[in-house]
Amino acid sequence: MTLIDGKAVSEQVKQEIAAEVAEIVARGGKRPHLAAILVGHDGGSETYVAAKVKACEVCGFKSTLIRYESDVTEEELLAKVQELNADPDVDGFIVQLPLPAHISEQKVIETIDYCKDVDGFHPINVGRLSIGLPCYISATPNGIMELLRRYQIDTKGKKCVILGRSNIVGKPMAMLMMQKACPGDATVTVCHSRSKDLVKECREADILIAAMGQPNFVTADMVKEGAVVIDVGTTRVPDATRKSGFKLTGDVKFDEVAPKCAYITPVPGGVGPMTIVSLMKNTLLAGKKAIY
Ligand code: GUN
Repeated sequence: MTLIDGKAVSEQVKQEIAAEVAEIVARGGKRPHLAAILVGHDGGSETYVAAKVKACEVCGFKSTLIRYESDVTEEELLAKVQELNADPDVDGFIVQLPLPAHISEQKVIETIDYCKDVDGFHPINVGRLSIGLPCYISATPNGIMELLRRYQIDTKGKKCVILGRSNIVGKPMAMLMMQKACPGDATVTVCHSRSKDLVKECREADILIAAMGQPNFVTADMVKEGAVVIDVGTTRVPDATRKSGFKLTGDVKFDEVAPKCAYITPVPGGVGPMTIVSLMKNTLLAGKKAIY
């Protein structure tokens, strides 16, 4: 069994980005600038946004954090999005999700200029991804593709089962794994809460990607011997023995599943760090005005 070290790969990719940024700046080019909007004080969102700002520093990007209290109006937030769209110094930006219930996430996403949509959530980027055109790709699935690429994991003709059909992970993951490319060329099945024989589907998977946000859902009996298992889960499960009061828990019961796998990602230290690095790669693309 090979443990996929997302932390190590992410550090390496950040160094590669930093080297490219240094070159751009040395040639007199503009330092890429990522802005992030954070609404409210959700613990997870605070942590993720802080990690994104920190990663910008490591990559040599400029970053700006814009904060609102959770009672910000939709109108006010949309006005800020439009302001960032028009700001030539901002190459790309994100609005951290989830947003409070009184704000339409879809409206916010669709207001973002797709050329600055480094999250890859705008329908134009999603549509382009689905037909293989240049676009910003959602960070988590793109990070998983980078791990498959760097570990030279063969995906061609393999049966890939994805658990979860979210717009952020499951759907774009399916698009990427079925694309005519390497990695890609897989035969993809997407399972979800209404799937009939989910266990049977999982057992047949050469590559199993668990992204439904249910801690320890995937057990050893659901995994084929020699499978590649990618765990996207990051649920905060209460744990009184920790200072933080919680333990980040994946969708895969790691201890019993790992011995059966050819490759597996741990939680934490697997997919998570790659998600942030993918956002950095998109920001570099934005700085280069590569998506238009
Ligand atoms: N919330 C959870 N994941 C993400 C992400 O990738 N981008 C944004 N903007 N919000 C998120």
